[in-house]
Amino acid sequence: METIAFASDHAGYPLKKALIEYLSAKGYKALDFGTDSEDSCDYPDYAHPAAKAVENGEAAFGIAMCGTGNGIQMTLNKHQGIRAALCWRPELAALAKEHNNANILVLPARFISYNEAVAIVDAYLNAKFEGGRHQRRIDKIAVK
Ligand code: RB5
Repeated sequence: METIAFASDHAGYPLKKALIEYLSAKGYKALDFGTDSEDSCDYPDYAHPAAKAVENGEAAFGIAMCGTGNGIQMTLNKHQGIRAALCWRPELAALAKEHNNANILVLPARFISYNEAVAIVDAYLNAKFEGGRHQRRIDKIAVK
């Protein structure tokens, strides 16, 4: 089963913990880069190691969250090998995989319920990248 890199700040920590339990029960291996409590912290400290794990293949993909999802997504997308997509509905998560081949799913932890998060994660996991014209567009994302 695939390995998933996880990262959050304090605002995302409770949801991250719950999703690690949910996905571990499904058989996924969790590589948790922190944080490990609800004590105030800085999301880049956890986002960068998770991004590197996805870039170097240690993890097949990632799931990350902070309060809004914005800060951690901005950090993750500084990595050339990362396509991190902020998703607050299952349809967005499916399209992030189908059209953008997103390799890190980002969640706005303070704005979605646990059940919504599970539905978003499931939509991401069940979707398949469509390739073709979408691959051509992805190939143009990187700053050369
Ligand atoms: C933390 O209060 C909050 O700023 C952070 O979780 C995130 O929303 C930043 O983008």
